[in-house]
Amino acid sequence: MAGNSDGDVDGKPTPLNHKLTNCHSEPFLIGVSGGTASGKSSFCLKLVQLLRQSKMECHQKQLVILSQDNFYRVLTSEQKIEALKGQFNFHHPDAFDNELILNTLKEITKGQTVQIPVYDFVSHSRKEETVTVYPAEVVLFEGSLAFYSQEVRDLFHLKIFLDSDADTRLSRIVLRDISEKGQDLEEILSQYVMFTKRAFEEFCLSTKKYADVIIPRAVDNPVAINLIMQHIQNILNGGLSKQKTNGYLNSYMAECKDQPSESSLWLH
Ligand SMILES: Nc1ncnc2c1ncn2[C@@H]1O[C@H](COP(=O)(O)OP(=O)(O)OP(=O)(O)O)[C@@H](O)[C@H]1O
Ligand SMILES: [Mg+2]
Repeated sequence: MAGNSDGDVDGKPTPLNHKLTNCHSEPFLIGVSGGTASGKSSFCLKLVQLLRQSKMECHQKQLVILSQDNFYRVLTSEQKIEALKGQFNFHHPDAFDNELILNTLKEITKGQTVQIPVYDFVSHSRKEETVTVYPAEVVLFEGSLAFYSQEVRDLFHLKIFLDSDADTRLSRIVLRDISEKGQDLEEILSQYVMFTKRAFEEFCLSTKKYADVIIPRAVDNPVAINLIMQHIQNILNGGLSKQKTNGYLNSYMAECKDQPSESSLWLH
């Protein structure tokens, strides 16, 4: 795991001073990026499970996951025909309603309840129902283009990039698309070369430099998951305090040390 930022940019709340200045008013927003099938969804779900948030009522959750996949644009008739032929690029930034992503995340940072669209991958439009996301202490936003827009990027208090090898990702894509989409190998590989690989290199890998934390192997990295989980647990426990010397952090601890951690460390 590597870090490349002290997180104290442009006067925006940093991971470490967040709770001191914004107690209960502004959620702690974590962006999770990485290539297709790098394990973003699995990683976020693992955190939610380990922090015992998965079985809570929606309005009681302290940690929620938002996925970029919910924000696909409704396709035009011509684009739907392209999609049916496997010729529409779902990995391009233009495939997403970026304005809605930005506005939704802005509302979330203000502590508002938001409605998230539900995308229908069969009709390539939005379902009538939406998902209500209530204010939570910590919000994870996951998507391979999560760091593409600077405006969105600047909203995150912590940016995590999941760094999984391309061959590992491709083998997962093959297995998943055969079992879930019923596609054949030739179709999967041609789409991978035509869209997935190119978009990864152009729009995702190029944003890795913005990450605060780079995690190899995603859910196969329990040490890194424990570190992130502990960080979130500290926020949920009521805040973090810090001492700052010459712009560097030299002390960092949870304020509520007497509160028992909700979950024990996840170890092999
Ligand atoms: N450590 C792992 N070992 C084996 N399979 C895994 C592992 N992590 C994830 N997978 C499988 O790989 C596929 C992709 O994982 P996941 O959905 O978590 O990735 P993602 O980065 O969210 O992908 P996408 O960009 O397509 O949304 C899924 O089928 C998942 O079950
Ligand atoms: Mg995913």
